[in-house]
Amino acid sequence: MNRANDEDLFPESFLWGASTSAYQVEGSPLADGAGPSIWHRFVRTPGRVFGGQTGDVACDHYNRYREDVALMKELGLTTYRFSISWSRVLPEGTGRVNERGLDFYRRLVDELLAAGIAPNATLYHWDLPAALDDRGGWLNRDVADWFAEYGEVVFRALDDRVTMWATLNEPWVVTDGGYLHGPLAPGHKNLWEAPRATHNLLRAHARAVAAYRAAGRNRIGLVVNLEPKYAASDSPEDAAAVARADAYMNRQYLDPVFFGTYPQELIDGFGEAWPEFPASDLDEIKAPIDFLGINYYKRGITRADDSVIVERATRLDNDRATVTETGWEVFPEGLTNILTWTRDRYGDVPIYITENGAAFYDPPVAFNGRVEDPLRVDYLREHLRAVRAAMQQGVDVRGYYVWSLLDNFEWALGYAKRFGIIHVDYGTLQRTPKSSARYYAEVIKARKVL
Ligand code: FCB
Repeated sequence: MNRANDEDLFPESFLWGASTSAYQVEGSPLADGAGPSIWHRFVRTPGRVFGGQTGDVACDHYNRYREDVALMKELGLTTYRFSISWSRVLPEGTGRVNERGLDFYRRLVDELLAAGIAPNATLYHWDLPAALDDRGGWLNRDVADWFAEYGEVVFRALDDRVTMWATLNEPWVVTDGGYLHGPLAPGHKNLWEAPRATHNLLRAHARAVAAYRAAGRNRIGLVVNLEPKYAASDSPEDAAAVARADAYMNRQYLDPVFFGTYPQELIDGFGEAWPEFPASDLDEIKAPIDFLGINYYKRGITRADDSVIVERATRLDNDRATVTETGWEVFPEGLTNILTWTRDRYGDVPIYITENGAAFYDPPVAFNGRVEDPLRVDYLREHLRAVRAAMQQGVDVRGYYVWSLLDNFEWALGYAKRFGIIHVDYGTLQRTPKSSARYYAEVIKARKVL
């Protein structure tokens, strides 16, 4: 084998995975003593979710996890990223522990380890216990301690077998979708709440990391979604809008964690809605993490717009681009760019691509036992190339997780958008690996993009 070929090879230690989240795949949200989450309530609020669909059944992963782990093994995955439902473990959010809820994750983790697949568990993928929402949810400063208490319970039960932990999945989406614009649970639309939610998410993250430092023996990190921002023109106004959009989306969470400060453009953007936070909070938030998880889906093209709050910027579409079923532009080089940007700004933290994938139209039922999804195959190929390119520029990327293992409940869009590399027939719950799954399995085997 010549040198050029060697350069294309991903390192042997590189982890190959797929991601899901609890509410999106598990189903049985109230089984075995679990309490309701804010998503359980949100899906029952008329007009909130496409077609009135719910996560009551989802992919029935709660009952079919063995079959799903067997499929992962067949594809050659070496890691699986899932999230833990807080209200299965603590039905009221704090206090009483529901062992039967924890047992589900014990069984899942054992099954993964038996298949040689490393579990990567996220504590919070958007499903706050409803009982805590009744106490103010992410707006109540006490949420930081509630979250640390939950973390301690889960670490105690699983840290002997789970070697990678993440505190929060995409805190930007929690604030932007849950408290500022409202398409996601708990569905608030309030400029004044958004900074408080952000700050409490970060405080909760930091307290869970601190709890882990006291009790854990493996690694813990944070998962953020990043989008490189590009200006719609070379005007100085658009350049300023890009800086604001970048501060809002990419630096809002990472600057506090790495530097202990919020970006000035963010504070200016919120204006009088931005409270003064105690300096001691930021000292606490600025604590080392063992790895950074980056979720990448698209870029943003930005134009100055004084009528838009916070970003004071409008996002534009690129008319000439390929777009996915969720209207997201396919832009693989943005992944290379955001990876080098992260390294240049925040230094050499180990990085995992914790989500990357696309919704394309797939037939609802497999035809002749097959589901062909050539667009998703192209998407994976180009994004894996983009990851490899960043690694060749010295970025320390240690693993990649495709979103998603299975077609699943895509939040307010219900089951209409399919992101899986494994097709799910929602009538029969039958799983069928798509051609993208076969392609991914070949890449994993070859350790290079094919
Ligand atoms: C991410 C979420 C994930 C899924 C994908 C499509 O923002 O983390 O749950 O909805 O988008």
